[in-house]
Amino acid sequence: MEHKQQTALVTGGTKGIGKAIADKLAKAGMKVIVTARNYQEEAFEYQFIAADLSKPAEVAKLVAELGHIDILINNMGANTLPGGGFSTLTDENWDEALQVNLLAAVRLDRALLPAMLAQKNGVIIHISSTSGMFPIWEATMAYSAAKAALNAYSKTLATEVASQGVRVVTVSPGLTKTPSMSAFITELAAGAGITTDEMATNLMAKLGGVPMGRMAEPAEVAELVNFLVSPAASYITGSNYVIDGGNFPVV
Ligand SMILES: NC(=O)c1ccc[n+]([C@@H]2O[C@H](COP(=O)([O-])OP(=O)(O)OC[C@H]3O[C@@H](n4cnc5c(N)ncnc54)[C@H](OP(=O)(O)O)[C@@H]3O)[C@@H](O)[C@H]2O)c1
Repeated sequence: MEHKQQTALVTGGTKGIGKAIADKLAKAGMKVIVTARNYQEEAFEYQFIAADLSKPAEVAKLVAELGHIDILINNMGANTLPGGGFSTLTDENWDEALQVNLLAAVRLDRALLPAMLAQKNGVIIHISSTSGMFPIWEATMAYSAAKAALNAYSKTLATEVASQGVRVVTVSPGLTKTPSMSAFITELAAGAGITTDEMATNLMAKLGGVPMGRMAEPAEVAELVNFLVSPAASYITGSNYVIDGGNFPVV
């Protein structure tokens, strides 16, 4: 019970990495609230508030329903755009990438930070992606650009509020076994006429290889987040933690 009496909001907390973070924080003693567009039976044990965070009005509605939040996990994000590079991406695609992967977090932070600053205590986590530092033009152009912007925003926010008791940390997972990743691999495998295992291996190779030879489990990302929001991480702010099985090729 490391986090007793604290309340955490986990965006996209009904599936994948967000659900694993919700489970871990709850197990550590926190009161957990999850938000997503759709209710999922799997997250029944948490207070659930429905909101489409790509829409400013729904972020405002969510904030109005929330009480005090000590820990904000900006996990929601997605790469749902067509691949194929610059010529396939419309203004609407770019806007969607930025709303989902950058501006939803910016708006939630702006709404919830004042109370954290007033009590001189709070932690904000931004779940980014190694794609923000390792973009692939065929598949992640707008998503990577939005995540890179999230990284820069997270760093500046951390610096701005560091002396006022609030920590802001970025976490960049590599390939992680979540429902959206499984669906992505299944679709690619069907298109290429190979098995999903073969496709997963191809994907890891495309990223330069994952030395551990497998994707992350969502629970492994959740362990890192649980540490980063805990008092044990009290001197950590403004950093970007990569968790990718050794994939990222630079030191
Ligand atoms: N999986 C990976 O390999 C990987 C790698 C690097 C980084 N990441 C990052 O990790 C985070 C979580 O990814 P994931 O793979 O766990 O995703 P996921 O399995 O697709 O789950 C996404 C969650 O976000 C919610 N959501 C999606 N769009 C939303 C919207 N517009 N408004 C509100 N909620 C929304 C979903 O619920 P509803 O659909 O019901 O709204 C769900 O709860 C994202 O930021 C992603 O970019 C993932």
